[in-house]
Amino acid sequence: MIINDTVDYQSLAGKIEGVSFIDCPQDNTVLYVGKKLENRLHKLDQTRNCVVMLEEGMLLDDAIAESNTVIYSKHLLADYGLLSKILYDRENEQLSTAEYQMVNGATISTSAEIGDNVLIESGAFIDHKVIIGAGTRIRGGARIHHACIGEYCDIGEYTVIGAPSFTNTLDADGNRVPIYALSEVTIGDHVHISEFTRVNRGQSRSTTIGEYAKIDGHVAIGHDSVVGRNAVIAGSAILAGFVTIADNAYVGIGALLKPFVSVGENTTIGIGAVVVRSQPDNALAVGNPAKTLKKR
Ligand SMILES: CC(C)(COP(=O)(O)OP(=O)(O)OC[C@H]1O[C@@H](n2cnc3c(N)ncnc32)[C@H](O)[C@@H]1OP(=O)(O)O)[C@@H](O)C(=O)NCCC(=O)NCCS
Repeated sequence: MIINDTVDYQSLAGKIEGVSFIDCPQDNTVLYVGKKLENRLHKLDQTRNCVVMLEEGMLLDDAIAESNTVIYSKHLLADYGLLSKILYDRENEQLSTAEYQMVNGATISTSAEIGDNVLIESGAFIDHKVIIGAGTRIRGGARIHHACIGEYCDIGEYTVIGAPSFTNTLDADGNRVPIYALSEVTIGDHVHISEFTRVNRGQSRSTTIGEYAKIDGHVAIGHDSVVGRNAVIAGSAILAGFVTIADNAYVGIGALLKPFVSVGENTTIGIGAVVVRSQPDNALAVGNPAKTLKKR
């Protein structure tokens, strides 16, 4: 079904369970797809009962429109923001009845799934919708929401994972409005994260950290980013949204990565680099803007 007239977002929200991303679409979710991703629309061939939000003028297969609700929007992100707010409010309403218990000075949701031999230090906070694998240690002051953390991880003091968050865009009147993040954070086994780091909840797919990755302190990992297996992110580096760090890559101290860039396998990003273009595998990149120095 294609809706071109005024959209009733409240009733649309009633048809969907969550959000997903065009590269991995899931049934019964909402997806927004801008013109830059138009060539990936075929990935929706098999999806059913989704709300697919497109920019005006984008072409879509009839079969996709038959199995899903398609909305063409002049202000795609702002309209998606409206829907995200309804879903966010609904989520908060569901969570408002949930309960917490104090265990050795930590606050833990009664619905959190905590594995064997997990050590949660005094002052930590574990929210609903959190799963923590066996043998993991959550240090004092850490706050964990909307996350699945693997086994034998170590989450540093005051690190915040999956907190409620939002990005923003301008609406038709030029007002800045929020787009709520509704996905989660997924952390593989044997991941170490030092103190005061934040890992944002995904906006349309899970923000993901691969197994054995080592993340230093004061790092920011933006929504929907993916950090590969064995990767290292050194202190104070900032990954914007939708950044991809491939397996075994090394991001130096204080590096800044622009939204949507990727860093190839085994590539090193030097201290303080400003990465505005994607970097290939086995490379070394430094400077502002970062240039590839040499291939190893
Ligand atoms: C990029 C890096 C790997 C290069 O190390 P290296 O191979 O030993 O290279 P050198 O120090 O010999 O420098 C080679 C050249 O690159 C320059 N360079 C090195 N690092 C640079 C950086 N981060 N930004 C800009 N230029 C840099 C050097 O000035 C030198 O230039 P020159 O040939 O004109 O003199 C290293 O400098 C770096 O930034 N490592 C990250 C370390 C880190 O974050 N560790 C975390 C520990 S917790």
